[in-house]
Amino acid sequence: QNEIYLQGLGDQVPPFTTDPTRLEAVAREKLDDGPYGYVAGGAGAGATMRANRAAFDRWRIVPRMLTDATSRDLATTVVGTELPSPVLLAPIGVQSIVHPDGELATARAAAALGVPMVLSTASSNTIEDVAAANGDGTRWFQLYWPNDNEVTISILRRAKAAGFTTLVLTLDTWTLAWRPNDLDQAYLPFIRGIGTAIPFSDPAFRAKLAKTPEEDPTAAILQWIPMFTGTDHHWDQLPFLREHWDGPIVLKGIQHVEDASRAAQAGIDGIVVSNHGGRQVDGAVGALDMLPEIVAAIGHRMDVLFDSGVRTGADVLKALALGAKAVLLGRPYVYGLALGGEDGVRHAVRSVLADLDLTLGLSGHRTLAELTPDTLRRT
Ligand code: FNR
Repeated sequence: QNEIYLQGLGDQVPPFTTDPTRLEAVAREKLDDGPYGYVAGGAGAGATMRANRAAFDRWRIVPRMLTDATSRDLATTVVGTELPSPVLLAPIGVQSIVHPDGELATARAAAALGVPMVLSTASSNTIEDVAAANGDGTRWFQLYWPNDNEVTISILRRAKAAGFTTLVLTLDTWTLAWRPNDLDQAYLPFIRGIGTAIPFSDPAFRAKLAKTPEEDPTAAILQWIPMFTGTDHHWDQLPFLREHWDGPIVLKGIQHVEDASRAAQAGIDGIVVSNHGGRQVDGAVGALDMLPEIVAAIGHRMDVLFDSGVRTGADVLKALALGAKAVLLGRPYVYGLALGGEDGVRHAVRSVLADLDLTLGLSGHRTLAELTPDTLRRT
């Protein structure tokens, strides 16, 4: 904020909007229908995306005064990872759809800010290139679980070797939902972006192809689709991942309290309460609506993270007050990427962090530990 005041004194304004809701509108003007639809779209008629926002609107912060909140500390520890602030960058696939630098720009911005990034299996850049761009940043790896054990093991090995510390297994997208925005484009932007993605650079996957993906991209994509989508897994298969991943495992996409309990029983290290930003089940409950009862049931046994609908510092504060240890920021940083590559991501994430810091202090808190359900009122 002070940086922006100083810019103003020098007759300058920030290069991008500081309003997270306008960020989407500005990105809309810049992006073609296909890429914009891919990012902004949801499942079906978009009811779940609206429910995500409505859930945040039902909770209001009740500020406290004279608490000596001049200096704040946003640091926290999540699943054994020390974080400077309770925000990670959500796994978002094929980011080259919105900017040619793709995940490399995101990795650089994340490292510069000290914010962990969660790299998607559907990344447009390879695991190794993203790790190099991320340098000594903190990085977690998100797995879309292939139905081929050799490929799974190979991808996990690569991620581990490239310095990814925590595995995030996404459960809610074992096949793609009915997504009209993408269907109307016949998934073309996605298919163009996926050609360089992680599986296509994977030696175990390439060994299964008659011709390399460079020689015959269509055949490679046709082999990739049934390996990475269309097969659901089962709780009984989780020990396989434990066996092949030396580090914490987080399950992403938990929405039911019994699934959260099941994850705890299975010895999982953490969960992300999430509905994939409303991109999978249309008509699903707002993700934030499920957070309190999940935290009440298993919050003492494992760390609960949250995503789906986080746009502002106040949103982060609300999710934390309801028991999340940290949140994953999704679409807003992708709009930043679309607008300005690495600088745009940095701007979008810093804006949320600065807004969170101010909201925390102005509502009378110095640390995240002071946030409790009593910080909020349901209206
Ligand atoms: C996603 N998300 C996602 N999740 C995941 O586990 N692997 C992935 O590859 C992707 N890809 C992806 C692409 C795009 C364009 C979006 C918007 C989202 C889901 C993501 O991690 C997160 O759950 C949502 O973005 C949270 O919702 P909001 O805050 O963006 O509305």
